[in-house]
Amino acid sequence: METLAQQFSSYFSIAPDVIAQAPGRVNLIGEHIDYSDGYVLPFAIKDVTMVAISRRDDREIHIRSIQRPGDLNLTSLDELSPQTGQIWARYPLGVIWAIAGLDDQHHLTGLNILIDGKVPLGAGLSSSAALECSIATALNELFDLNLSLTELAWLTQRAENDYVGMPCGIMDQSISLMGKAGSALLLDTRDLSTEAIPFEIASAGLELLIIDTQAHHALVDGGYAERRASCEKAVADLGITSLRDISVDDFYAQGTLLDQTTFIRARHAVTEMQRVLDAVAVLKARDFISLGKLLNQSHASLRDDYTVSCPELDLAVSVSQSQGALGARMVGGGFGGSAIALIKVESAPKIREAITTAFAKHGFTSPRFFNSLPSDGAKILH
Ligand code: GLA
Repeated sequence: METLAQQFSSYFSIAPDVIAQAPGRVNLIGEHIDYSDGYVLPFAIKDVTMVAISRRDDREIHIRSIQRPGDLNLTSLDELSPQTGQIWARYPLGVIWAIAGLDDQHHLTGLNILIDGKVPLGAGLSSSAALECSIATALNELFDLNLSLTELAWLTQRAENDYVGMPCGIMDQSISLMGKAGSALLLDTRDLSTEAIPFEIASAGLELLIIDTQAHHALVDGGYAERRASCEKAVADLGITSLRDISVDDFYAQGTLLDQTTFIRARHAVTEMQRVLDAVAVLKARDFISLGKLLNQSHASLRDDYTVSCPELDLAVSVSQSQGALGARMVGGGFGGSAIALIKVESAPKIREAITTAFAKHGFTSPRFFNSLPSDGAKILH
């Protein structure tokens, strides 16, 4: 099989100057709280997006993707403006735009870019962050930008918020850049400080099944932004600086200040923040039974209070639970995408089959199954 460098050379008739990769992610727990200063507990998966890049001696930007053989997105450094370019190309363009917006010490040139994205698309496993972070990592090296992982995380989030137009939090970019093999990362989304929390479930006879429901979410559409706005309204109505700053008890005591929708949405955020801290404590004690219960509670809260689940996710979770999973929940933004289930290794075939059968019975598209151990974050390969 041709390497990415060889494929790059056949597309662009020149060798790449740099090759980088960045992974997708799952989130163990801490959903929809990374824009409310919460702690989250994601890990990087083994699937990665790779990019090969060379400088050009003009100001043109040529972007190709192995997954879209006929497409070329052609633009120039001088034409970059938010929400322009083919949809798939906006993620790399956004990163270049964000770098161009840094102080002008950096002399960007035109670029040839070839993308090879192996993180399943639309599966809620953050293929977009993987793409942004692989590009940012490569350009950081190519132009000697010397940006730290934290700076790269803020930069790639800015690309997605302001160029792509998706008001995401900071979790996906952070874990794609900072992931550590063997550990989930306790990430404080307020300052991006981290603590690696070992997630060694194999020695306990367990695995984390990832169930891609193949239902496709449309996060750029209003649902995500609307949830985020509810959390911001709760902060304003409670007169606090962020939902991170209120305990579960105080929240209930002051809940009368909020209208009903704002109350139940913010209740998800406040209780989920506590569940993350509880999950870290039980993980440190290797108490996977309690971890499973927290996953179940997280799903119920996302389904009932935050209302970001969907029938396919609920079915994947409920079948996992009834077939003996220690716990299961939807992951990511919701409205489709993937669920995770913490299961005994020996029960995997039975659970997969039960989910597939239930999906067929409901007339849903057949789900796909993955699993992944916690893997390393972005790196330069060449
Ligand atoms: C998407 C966003 C993240 C985060 C999750 C929900 O993946 O990109 O920032 O908000 O949804 O936890």
